[in-house]
Amino acid sequence: MGKLMIKKSRSLMGEIKIPGDKSISHRALIFSSMGEGESIIKNFLFSQDCISTMNCLRALGTSIEICENVIKVKGNGINGFREPENVLDAGNSGTTIRLFTGLLSGLPGIFSVITGDDSLRRRPMKRVVEPLLGMGAKIWGRNGGNNPPLAIKGEKLKGRDHTLSVASAQVKSALLIAGLLADGETSVTEPSLSRDHTERIFQYLGLPLIRNGLTLKTHGIEGFKNKDFNIPGDFSSAAFIIAAGLLVEGSKIVIKNVGINPTRIGMLSVLKEAGAKIQILNQWEEGGEPIGDLIVEFSILESFEVRGEIVPKLIDEVPILAIIATQAKGKSVFKDVGELKVKESDRIKAVVDGINKMGGKAEIIDEGFAVYGPTKLNGNEIETYNDHRIAMSFAIAGLLADGETIVESNSISISFPNFGETIKKLGGNIIEL
Ligand code: S3P
Repeated sequence: MGKLMIKKSRSLMGEIKIPGDKSISHRALIFSSMGEGESIIKNFLFSQDCISTMNCLRALGTSIEICENVIKVKGNGINGFREPENVLDAGNSGTTIRLFTGLLSGLPGIFSVITGDDSLRRRPMKRVVEPLLGMGAKIWGRNGGNNPPLAIKGEKLKGRDHTLSVASAQVKSALLIAGLLADGETSVTEPSLSRDHTERIFQYLGLPLIRNGLTLKTHGIEGFKNKDFNIPGDFSSAAFIIAAGLLVEGSKIVIKNVGINPTRIGMLSVLKEAGAKIQILNQWEEGGEPIGDLIVEFSILESFEVRGEIVPKLIDEVPILAIIATQAKGKSVFKDVGELKVKESDRIKAVVDGINKMGGKAEIIDEGFAVYGPTKLNGNEIETYNDHRIAMSFAIAGLLADGETIVESNSISISFPNFGETIKKLGGNIIEL
């Protein structure tokens, strides 16, 4: 198993470009496979999760070619998928399995089985399976349909109104995709706004969608024409570099080409309140997604609170925000973050245990956890539970800690394959063991 060893680093300096956004890369592939004609995808994220989506789509008959870092998809239209010959493997990717459950349920005559790795097979699927059953889907799975493998017999679905109990972009997207394949109208109402990339893609491709507050309405279609995508850098990957810049004394980093969709950058508002020196420069748009360059400088931070409606807008950044909180003055509180328990690992436990193991102070509280700062951190070997965001969060903590910090590194290829090189390029003390 690959490991990274990280040691205390001097100021991090320089300019870097972040790889493509994971959520948008999955969606660009899926929608291009559903559309008609060729679509070129630039700045696609070549990470394990997105490759899982690519393999599943190929198994459904879509031609996907990689030519000099650009992806060429030949979409066969929503009626052009073929029955996969083998079990579909979503690997570690919640987005793949949940969006595919929506897609596969609505492909009449196609039988499929979709599964994933140890972590994915433990994650809850009922949130997507139940509403789809209400549209007439035929889905079976372990534990009453809650855990993969899921077996799906595609049907002509019937449009329906859905009210979600968790704000989940994966569930919302699965139901909107199913809605495109269903007879009649489908609506989805979220308790609070989660990332809206699917809605932006609907708009970009001219697919039917009406938003009324937190309710989205779509209806069944015959088909649509493909368009090209140019994918912004992933804010959730940039978040680790932002943290490194804020925490390592004397640092100043320019991060180019980062997606700054308002439903993704809750971390920036929280950090600005805490006194972080982060600026957005040169804003522009690609395919309906806002993009910008960021400048981050070392900052003395106050403690902060994360709770309520902002949580879905920084859900993947909670682990790295917890590391930042170890250096912020006072008690930082993370509430309403129960969803973290059902991510790639139980991220609340992983973060609290890891911080305490490094000599910081963190505790579980009702519906979340608290971190006290500023504390000196000591290097240690950290249990990542093979979770990419836990591994990268503690690698960043290692840049501040006395001694050596060791994390497993295989999981990092799930979302940010050149993470180690990027930190090294900025002057970070990080070695592949
Ligand atoms: C994602 C949505 C989020 C996020 C995940 C990617 C997506 O999950 O945590 O990493 O691409 O739609 P939920 O929508 O389940 O909260």
